Amino acid sequence: MRKSVDTARSTAITGISRLVTNDPGAGPGALGIVEDAAVVIEGDRIVWVGPSSAVPPADIGFDAAGRAVLPGWVDSHSHLLFAGDRSAEFSARMAGQPYAAGGILTTVTATREASTPDLAARLDRRIAEMVAGGTTCIETKTGYGLTTVDEARSASLAAAAGVDVVTFLGAHLTAPEFASDPDSYVDLVCGPMLDAVAPNVQFIDVFCEEGAFDEPRTRRILAAGMRKGLGLKVHGNQLGEGAGVRIAVDCGAVSVDHCTYLSDRDIDLLGGSSTVATLLPVCDLSTRQAPAPGRRLIDAGATVALASNCNPGSCYTPSMALAVALAVIQCGLTADEAVAAATVGGARALARTDVGVVAVGKRADLHVLDAPSHDYLAYRVGLPMTHAVWRAGVRAV
Ligand code: NIG
Repeated sequence: MRKSVDTARSTAITGISRLVTNDPGAGPGALGIVEDAAVVIEGDRIVWVGPSSAVPPADIGFDAAGRAVLPGWVDSHSHLLFAGDRSAEFSARMAGQPYAAGGILTTVTATREASTPDLAARLDRRIAEMVAGGTTCIETKTGYGLTTVDEARSASLAAAAGVDVVTFLGAHLTAPEFASDPDSYVDLVCGPMLDAVAPNVQFIDVFCEEGAFDEPRTRRILAAGMRKGLGLKVHGNQLGEGAGVRIAVDCGAVSVDHCTYLSDRDIDLLGGSSTVATLLPVCDLSTRQAPAPGRRLIDAGATVALASNCNPGSCYTPSMALAVALAVIQCGLTADEAVAAATVGGARALARTDVGVVAVGKRADLHVLDAPSHDYLAYRVGLPMTHAVWRAGVRAV
């Protein structure tokens, strides 16, 4: 692992066997693939993309030696702000227990008890793990504090750690102190808690599921976030069919995440809307649920994103490479569709246009695979595939 601090100098990455640009103008197909390509970056931006034979001079050279290069992964759904350990819960699940959202409260207790330096150090380690696997744009949620002070602490730690997008998830579960009066908890989330986190967050999210937040409460919380100028996200249809997709589409949410249990109507709604269907296939695997209907969503015209859902309960890994492999092997996406969903699809789920694409003027987020093409991500599932990474122009791996 090497970190460069001199981001003002230009770097030419040459010898790229296949460059995925996600810029259809750059080459054939939706991925805009350029064969035998080069990319030049300067500061935190991409300044040149084209054939290796025509690359302009640069201060530093990097020979990809026949490897593939992709935009860095855009991980649009994770829960990195937590303390504690739930490995026993995972083992119990492997022994036959079902996944239950109630485990979230175990993490809430541990997170509240953690010192701020401890929580910050845990967050830094998780970010480093993500970047080591090729993730260059990171979204994380609050949601394991569930008091005004603890949610505000999580939001400010995430912003300070250089997380790209922070999402307020005070509506992860009703805080235990409000178990007998959930509407007062919703008042808190929509009022003082939202005010306290607002300076550090861009989105608001609600876990809309049986046992978490019902439709009227979900709508109230989303409306409060919208009044505050935040983008909307919904955790929906994770543990069963429900109102999550319908509410997300109706409210103009930028994404609805999980989408494991979808009715035909949900698929039609997503196919006809701009709300991104974010699939979390490693979570479905780790909770022993059926794979999400990715093929049907794409065939219906939905925009699909893939994300890690790294969290201590349902999915404790940040591996986007595994998410891509499972999307191909289990959800029926092609390798091209899965790579697009994990890059430009994630960018859409975060309403970002500066990441997920390799083109002049975009952020210099590049992922050199240790393979000649992105097809190998599923073909050689489980193998470490990251050879080098630039995040915002800084060499991180
Ligand atoms: O996305 N669904 C809610 N939140 C997380 C799980 C959190 C946990 O179990 O701690 C998820 O799967």
